[in-house]
Amino acid sequence: MEPPREFLSSFKPAADLFKSHAERGSIIRILTHNDADGVSSGGILSKAAKRMGAPFKTTVEKRLDEPMLRGVAEEKPGLVVFTDFGSGYLELVGKALPDVDAIILDHHMPSGEAPQHAVQVNPLLHGIDGSRDIAASGVSYIFAKTLDPRNVDLAPLGLVGALGDQQDKGEKKSLKGVNILIEEEAIAAGLLSKSVDLIFYGHETRPVARAIANTTTPFIPGLSGREDSAVAFLNHIGIPLKTGDRMRSLSDLDEEEKRKLFSALSSHMVAQGCDAKTVHNLIGTVYTFKKEEVTTPMRDGREYSSLLNACARMRRPSLGIGICLGDRGEAMKDAEQTVDEYRRKIGGYLDWVRTGDRIKEMGAIYVLSAGTDIDENIVGVVSSILLGQGILKSTKPIVSAANSDDGTVKISSRIAEGTAYMGIHLGKIMQEAAGGVKGAGGGHDNAAGAFIPQGTESEFMRRVDELVAKQWSAS
Ligand code: C5P
Repeated sequence: MEPPREFLSSFKPAADLFKSHAERGSIIRILTHNDADGVSSGGILSKAAKRMGAPFKTTVEKRLDEPMLRGVAEEKPGLVVFTDFGSGYLELVGKALPDVDAIILDHHMPSGEAPQHAVQVNPLLHGIDGSRDIAASGVSYIFAKTLDPRNVDLAPLGLVGALGDQQDKGEKKSLKGVNILIEEEAIAAGLLSKSVDLIFYGHETRPVARAIANTTTPFIPGLSGREDSAVAFLNHIGIPLKTGDRMRSLSDLDEEEKRKLFSALSSHMVAQGCDAKTVHNLIGTVYTFKKEEVTTPMRDGREYSSLLNACARMRRPSLGIGICLGDRGEAMKDAEQTVDEYRRKIGGYLDWVRTGDRIKEMGAIYVLSAGTDIDENIVGVVSSILLGQGILKSTKPIVSAANSDDGTVKISSRIAEGTAYMGIHLGKIMQEAAGGVKGAGGGHDNAAGAFIPQGTESEFMRRVDELVAKQWSAS
């Protein structure tokens, strides 16, 4: 891929600022967001700081707001580095940390001007699509490489966030845009190989039923998180689980068996209320990280990102950061258990949504009001599955709400890729509608969120519905 020179040169001032603080030995405070992209970004920056011998502290935050920044200011850091958030909250950063040097490495829609002491790196400032062509992990990786070429070993992590943010929108579910540049570096360093296959996690190494049950993207209702159901499913369609005493993996299946499996999964998904077309999400580009142990979740790019996502969403983010920094052993066992619980939770939430008449249709949007029935950290994941799997029959955006433990309401919104609604920018809509009810919001065109005061949900939804209809008729 042709390197986007102007974007790449925008990293230098940020890297120079980081280096000057590292050399002075000032405390570097890294703040990141609680999803797979955020955790992989935090992992990359932590590793880069460690390699430079710089003192640092990394935390993973649910939201960027005034109380959180006040706490950071009290720590009196020398430099604050924001990754996977920051660009949408520039004024707040300027106000809360007026005299502190800051670096913002983000891919969300910028709002306002960067404060005087801050250096912002964001692909959107250079005409690059931050929702599809590079994630915060990619930005963090290029930043780390600008600091020190040895950080090329972090290239796989640079892709993990992009997979977590579902940027595999290229042909055959491949990554595209600037992500290709990172991919090329990973391949050249002998860290990555790619193939096109069924994208179940661990397709070379896991027993078929476990590979199906472990997969969360795409999420297969009734089978994801349920190995016993996956075993029964394979028995029913006549795919042997073993050759002799050895469990078979997907790579042991012949072409005829793979076709049979694909077709049975397709019927299963349709019977579960998914759109027939979404079964094609089961085949795509598999990203294999060659230096990772063959049997671990970090071997497969999508599985790695699901693991980090689970750690973040299940409130165990430091476990995820530790994995990025190379923790294995006990940490791995802990993380795998966390993923198990995460899968079970999602399955339970989907059952809850589908068994009751939970989703309301307004003129231009679907609304899911989950109250306390869905964890605020997972409501966005559930919304993505409902849209991505075609469980919702129209292509309208979905806007979900769940009570937050800080007394506000967490909002998550998603639009399915490639629909008539693609002219819509949910990030802008969230920002405007949340601002109108004294909340705060932002994000990407296709995935965005907000926090709003309790009691304002109906008014907020009314505003969102109106804004979507307005943007759509203008597009
Ligand atoms: O929380 P959720 O997964 O729904 O967020 C979707 C996207 O919107 C994320 O990329 C997140 O960073 C962004 N977002 C934001 N401001 C908020 C909430 C979410 O920019 N207040």
